[in-house]
Amino acid sequence: QFTETMKSIARRGDLKAYVEQTPSIYHMLQRAAAKYVTGEDRTAGLEAGLRLINKGYAVSLEYIGENATDVQSCEAAALEMKQLIKNLTDRGMAARVSFDLSHIGLSVDDALAFKHLATLADQTQQTEIELFISMEESAKTEAILAIYERAAAIYPNIGITLQAQLHLTAQYMNDLQADPRRLRLVKGAYQEPKHLAISRSDALNERYLHLLEQSIDKGHRVSIATHDERIVDEVINRGWALKPGVEFEMLYGIRPDLSSKLRKAGYPVRIYLTYGHEWYLYLCHRIAEYPPNLYQAVIDIASD
Ligand code: FDA
Repeated sequence: QFTETMKSIARRGDLKAYVEQTPSIYHMLQRAAAKYVTGEDRTAGLEAGLRLINKGYAVSLEYIGENATDVQSCEAAALEMKQLIKNLTDRGMAARVSFDLSHIGLSVDDALAFKHLATLADQTQQTEIELFISMEESAKTEAILAIYERAAAIYPNIGITLQAQLHLTAQYMNDLQADPRRLRLVKGAYQEPKHLAISRSDALNERYLHLLEQSIDKGHRVSIATHDERIVDEVINRGWALKPGVEFEMLYGIRPDLSSKLRKAGYPVRIYLTYGHEWYLYLCHRIAEYPPNLYQAVIDIASD
């Protein structure tokens, strides 16, 4: 219930407008968000990315946003991502660019999302940049997978995120053609009904590990995107962490102690960085998925 409350707070335009018009609250929340978001503009994301690359991490970058419902906003988001790709290319940064398809067109129509995805993919051919599609709520899963399949058949550098919590994910994975794919496996951030998904539990962790094993056996490149130390330990114990194409991927600001420990132990680790004006949305999502972050946010605000 808390998760749903935070997600509805994230969506409430009136609350967001109130925050934006009240400088004291705006600055306090912005300070709390700074733990998870590199900054409002691209330069902040690029600089943080470079710092992490120099420390031995790989990075993903996301320009925060989702559910853009008019063509102009989708075009603006795609343009920002084009600029990001250009800056990464100019700086020789072999990063991964991550995004929600609903940020670049899916909430308008599938054709617009595909068009923008193809434009970005064209731009990244001949570079070492990967494009990675995030997975959104279950109402969008099939549309996202269809766009991914169509694009991945043309552009080999596009990856897809799959959610272990969905009952259908095992089938989605079987449906992927035999050739190696770029996958990111997450537990899933969305509250879904029981007939579609399993909630946080040992059974979900077992399912996560099973899907992971299948992906590794099929030769996919897999990002193990979790902060769950029980899964991380299991992956290491089973000898999967050093398999070719396997890496850990964690969100910027979350369990930096764990990512640092893994990197120092010699395992490949990618950090997922975000930037953009929609930091308020992102902060609400991080609190929604892990309520203790609310207390951390209060501590960060109080120490201002
Ligand atoms: P889980 O929620 O099961 O918690 C296990 C433990 O991990 C906790 O006890 C705590 O120790 C630690 N932990 C987890 N979250 C924490 C937090 N926020 N702060 C501090 N500690 C925390 N989801 C989605 O639906 N679509 C997507 O495209 C993506 N993309 C994505 C990319 C990357 C790189 C990551 C790491 C995650 C995502 N997610 C996502 C989010 C994902 O589905 C999931 O909601 C979060 O990773 C939290 O689940 P965990 O498996 O990390 O741990």
